[in-house]
Formats: sequence, structure tokens, C-alpha cells
Amino acid sequence: MDFPYYPINDFGPMMKGVVIGVLGIVHVFLAQFAIGGGILMCYFEWLSQTGRCPPARQFVDGFFKFLVLISFIVGAITGVGMWFTSIQISPRTIGMMVDEFHWIWAIEWTFFCLEIVSGYCFYRYGSRLDGPSRMTFLVLYAVAAWGSLFWINGILSWQLTPGSWLETHVIWDGFFNPSFWPSLLYRTVVSMAIAALVACAVMNAMPALNRETRTLLIHRAAHFLLPMVLMPVLGFWYLMSWPEDSRSWVTGGSPAMSLFLMMGVGSSLLVGAYATIAVWWGKLYINGATATLLCALALAATGGGEFVREGARKPYTIRQVLYSNSIEQPEIKDLRKVGSATNDPYPLQQATDYPTGQLRLGAKVFRFQCSICHTMHGVNGMVELTGNWSDDQKRMMIAKLQQTKPFMPPFSGSAVELEALVQLISWEAADRPERQEQSVDDAVIQRIQTWLDEAGTDPAPRLPRLGY
Ligand code: HEC
Repeated sequence: MDFPYYPINDFGPMMKGVVIGVLGIVHVFLAQFAIGGGILMCYFEWLSQTGRCPPARQFVDGFFKFLVLISFIVGAITGVGMWFTSIQISPRTIGMMVDEFHWIWAIEWTFFCLEIVSGYCFYRYGSRLDGPSRMTFLVLYAVAAWGSLFWINGILSWQLTPGSWLETHVIWDGFFNPSFWPSLLYRTVVSMAIAALVACAVMNAMPALNRETRTLLIHRAAHFLLPMVLMPVLGFWYLMSWPEDSRSWVTGGSPAMSLFLMMGVGSSLLVGAYATIAVWWGKLYINGATATLLCALALAATGGGEFVREGARKPYTIRQVLYSNSIEQPEIKDLRKVGSATNDPYPLQQATDYPTGQLRLGAKVFRFQCSICHTMHGVNGMVELTGNWSDDQKRMMIAKLQQTKPFMPPFSGSAVELEALVQLISWEAADRPERQEQSVDDAVIQRIQTWLDEAGTDPAPRLPRLGY
């Protein structure tokens, strides 16, 4: 069997997911602001051109325009940065996505180019153009920015809910997958809310506005917070479109994920509640400090939301197709026989640090199968997690990995490799002593083999038992 091995990067104590996560949250926040900002500028341009609110033009041509420019540039750079990082962390996942969706990606890129060009043209020449031309550029920008969300949303939501694509492999089945619409609509509402909050902050910081004009503009911007009333419904619809096990992680199955979900929901509720009071009970004035605080809450909500969305895919990067550690389920049977490190062509870093061949083998197994979600000593650290477990406990828990925690893939190597991994963990826990006996007990290997066979190579049953 030809298993495709790729080089695996090591970010030290930082888990790989953390690296992508931080970049991702910044990117998503900025990109969503750039989308909502575009729509908001169209709205304000319309307000001023139709005479409904003449000072709106001052706002469109002011600092906000600059912010939108900055955020679509930084959004673009962090976006490219995301692909750059994720292709190093999980080349096989990105490879499959490109294989399946290259045309969609090409379309997304054309929208993206249009976004950049029209956005920049408006920024550069907008103040010199007549009304219809201004409007054309703004509408082009807003449509293109939202369009790039539309296209990328299909690819990203497919990762979590491939739906009927799993059987048909028809590209549109994958694109318009079960979570496509709820996720697109939810993100659109979020984009508008973020734009409104940033707009309020900017309006407060514009010295040229008198209090009356400012209040007028803030009330107009606050209209963009109104769609937030849909968020509970959209959020619920989105969650319901998830597979049942993914949903169970965030509703108590995994404390960390539930916590992040609460963070997302809580922050959104606070923003929403404030918006409702401000808009419906009328004349409330969102001042600079409040607007900034609300923006920070929105960032927290984005962070919580993105963490939950990424985490809910576990143990897959593409649900039911590819495990997070880049192994496909049908490949596990072979890897169990042949060994997961046997054909891995990449040498270990600092191989001489390991006193025995067994430990080197363990390090390769860890790198290949576990390091995507675990570090040895840092985030989700192996040594801390196994704390005071005996060697036999480690053997059994790892052999039955998908039962130990249903969001882990099954162990995908041989019994000898598993023992090497257990020895490695104990050696690391003992602070890397210079001398280490190799463990060469056939009875132990036999025991591990029995556990491996009992666990099988299927993923955990769909519904984890209660109590996790
Ligand atoms: C898809 C990501 C993922 C992969 C791949 C993965 N793990 Fe885990 N593992 C987790 C998460 C998440 C936890 C939960 C940590 C917590 O409870 O705080 C965990 C927990 C554990 C625990 C503690 C279980 C307990 O009952 O407390 C052990 C042991 C463990 N993993 C070993 C491994 C080994 C060994 C590998 C590689 C063969 C591996 N994991 C691969 C995500 C993963």
C-alpha cells in the first residue's frame, strides 16, 4: 500500500491547531468586517444620495473607508497566511479540498480580485466621482466581498457536513451541503453587526461631527444590528445541521468546547441585548467606549464560534473522509499490519536525543498520529494528560483510543509501535533520562494486540455514551 507521507512541522509547545486558530480568528473577524463594511457603505451612500441623511456622505468618505481598506488588505494577507499555514500543517486535507473544489476556488478568487480592485478604486477616486459611479463601485465592492464569502463558505462547511456528497461525489452536493445556508446567513448577520459596531466607534471618533449629526448617524448604523434578532434561530438551525456527535461535543461532551460555545453565545447575547435596547427603546446613544467594548465582545464571539466550528469536526478534517492526522479510515487496517512509521521517509529532528531505537520509533509514531492535536509537554500535553497512569493503563487507553475519547481517531499503527509510544511518554514524563531500557516483552505486545483487536478500526460509535 502506498500511504502518502508528508513532512510534519513542529511548532514546539504550541499545538498546531492553536497556530491556525489564532490566525483564523483574526482573519475571520477582519474579513467579516470588510464584508459588512461594504454593505454599510452602500447603505450610507444611498442615504446621502437620496437625501434621507445628507451627512452620511461625510462618513462614507471619512475614516471608515480607510478602515475597510485596511481590513480587506489585512484580511487578504491573513487569508493567504491561513492557507499557507494550513497547507504545512495538513497538506493532505488541503490537497483533497483543491482536488474537489478547484473551480469553486477559482471563482472565489475572481470575486476576491473584483473586491480588491473596486474597493481600492473607491478608496482612491471615490470623492471625485459623481453619484452613480460612486454607487457602482460601492455595490461592486459589497457584492464581490459577500460573494467571496458565499464561495468559500461552501468549501469550509463541506468539511464539517459533506452530506450527500459522501455518496454522490457531485461537486454541488458538496458545495450546497447541509450547513451551507445556515452558516452563510449567520455569517452575513455577524458581518453586518460587526460593521455597525465599528461604525459607531468611528462616528464617535470623528471630530468634525456635531452631537446631533453623530446621533443621527449612529441610529442609522444601528439598523445593521437589527438582523441580530435572527441569530438565535440561525444559530440553532446551524447547530441542527451538524452531525449528532459533533453537536454533542459542544453541548457538554467536551468541556473546553462547551465553554467556548458559551463564550460565543454569551458575548453575542450581550451585544444583541445592548443593540435591542439601543435601537428599539430609541434614543440611546452608543458612545465610543461602549462601541469599542461591544467590538471586543464581537471579537470574543468570533473567537468562540470559530474554535467551536473547527473543534466540532474532530476527529476529522473532512468528516468521514479524512482524520485530523491525515489518515483515511480504510487505510488503518493496513497501517496496523505494516506499521505507521515503517515507510515514513522523514528523519526525526534531534534524533540523537533519544537513547534507544524504541524511543525513536515512538517519536515517529507520535509525530505522525498524535502531534496534530497533542504536544508532549505544552498545549494538550501528552505527559500531563496521562499523569499518573501506569504503563498498562496507557497501553489500553491508547489501543482503544477512539473509545477513550470519541473525538480521537483509532490508533493506526502496530502493537510494537504502540509500545514504543508508551515508552516514549514514560521517558518524557521521567524528564528524558540518559539511559533507558528497551521494553521487549512478548506478553506485553500480545496484550496490546488483543486490545487493538477489541477496539477495531472503526471510529467511535456515533453517539458517545452519556457522562463524557
Ligand atoms: C483529533 C485530535 C486528536 C488526535 C489525532 C489524538 N488526540 Fe488524544 N486527545 C484529543 C483531545 C481533544 C483530548 C482531550 C483532552 C482533554 O480532555 O482535555 C485527548 C485526550 C487524550 C488522552 C487522555 C484521555 C483521558 O481519558 O484523559 C490520551 C491518553 C490521548 N489523548 C492520547 C492520544 C494519542 C496517543 C494519540 C495518537 C496516537 C492521540 N491522542 C491522538 C485529541 C486528539
